[in-house]
Amino acid sequence: MTVTADSPVSPAPSGAKLELPPLQLGKHTVQTPVILAPMAGITNKAFRRLCREYGGGVYVTEMVTSRALVERNPESMRIISHDPDEELRSVQLYGVDPKTVGAAVRLIVEEDRADHIDLNFGCPVPKVTRKGGGAALPWKTDLFTAIIKAATTEAARGDVPLTIKMRKGINEDHLTYIESGKIARDHGVAAVALHGRTASQYYSGKADWDSIAKLRESLPDIPVLGNGDIWSAEDAVAMVQQTGVDGIVVGRGCMGRPWLFGDLQAAFDGTDKRYTPGLAKVAETVYRHAELLTEYFEDEFKGLRDIRKHMAWYFKGYPVGGDIRSALAQVPTLEVLRGLLDQLDLDMPYPGKDAEGQRGRAGSPKKTHLPDGWLSTRDLNESHKAMISAAELDVSGG
Ligand SMILES: Cc1cc2nc3c(=O)[nH]c(=O)nc-3n(C[C@H](O)[C@H](O)[C@H](O)COP(=O)(O)O)c2cc1C
Repeated sequence: MTVTADSPVSPAPSGAKLELPPLQLGKHTVQTPVILAPMAGITNKAFRRLCREYGGGVYVTEMVTSRALVERNPESMRIISHDPDEELRSVQLYGVDPKTVGAAVRLIVEEDRADHIDLNFGCPVPKVTRKGGGAALPWKTDLFTAIIKAATTEAARGDVPLTIKMRKGINEDHLTYIESGKIARDHGVAAVALHGRTASQYYSGKADWDSIAKLRESLPDIPVLGNGDIWSAEDAVAMVQQTGVDGIVVGRGCMGRPWLFGDLQAAFDGTDKRYTPGLAKVAETVYRHAELLTEYFEDEFKGLRDIRKHMAWYFKGYPVGGDIRSALAQVPTLEVLRGLLDQLDLDMPYPGKDAEGQRGRAGSPKKTHLPDGWLSTRDLNESHKAMISAAELDVSGG
């Protein structure tokens, strides 16, 4: 069973349209200024293929840890692999130590493993911020600057554009995004992406698009990309109108809906076509996703284990009974998956609004776990320095 991107398209009721100029990422011109946000456990080669078949843009890998990459950990090498037809190979790196991040960028550039590198300064998970990484890192201006410098210096050797992705700061009392954006610009990054939440907000509440507009105004000389709560093409249009960003970064909205990139392409092309897949099309896509994951992991069990988390997103809003839903969430093989999908009422049309909207992580604000004394100064103290050089050893894989 195969799925092609040119499946039925219906006119959308709203007809929101937007024409934005191509996005310049260093030497690359991106005709459709849309970026698939890096998402650990989601944006592997399999999912990127499904998404990019619907539209143009930049499709970023899951984050890979600089240390693990430098050590050529097999899982990390898998994470940064691309299909031969990925025109703009994009990799996201995570790191806390300037030397290691520099070495990871050098490896990618010297071995021609990507055309674009993004650095992660937005991760809010305790395992990462507790070590001073991700969203905790920009607070330490000297460390942040050293990482940007090391990365841009190495990337420049191969003329590979480097971007950063960050949150607003640690919390509303410790905002860093304007300052970090300026530091990044001054050291030659090609673009800056902002997720309009603080680390402490985690995924709760609404993304603050005003902060994105503010960053856009503060950095008139490089592209600014807006991220947070784009669930539809209409949201993308609204974000561009409200913030003036040069491109949009879409995360959770496309989980279980790779055709969102078709809607975004249509909106950016100025047409009001939108994808409204019936249940048969969703079932086909789930099966194809599972096949692609099996290829990616070179292991059917791993592929099927991985597809399970996508089930609730794919079938959101579709009339699928509880028993089948729970069987799908535990599916062991492609054959069993085929049997379960065949039991669905494949004549069911698109359910409309119920299939759209928020999906994936949400939850409530959380106190951000930080190294002791992290907030008391903007520079690293001796104990933080010692911790940083050891920190990457503990975050493995991706
Ligand atoms: C499951 C999951 C994994 C994520 N992994 C990463 C990651 O590896 N690197 C990163 O910079 N952001 C990561 N994020 C954050 C997203 O890239 C994005 O910034 C965030 O979800 C907000 O955008 P959205 O509202 O469009 O989802 C992740 C988010 C989710 C939900």
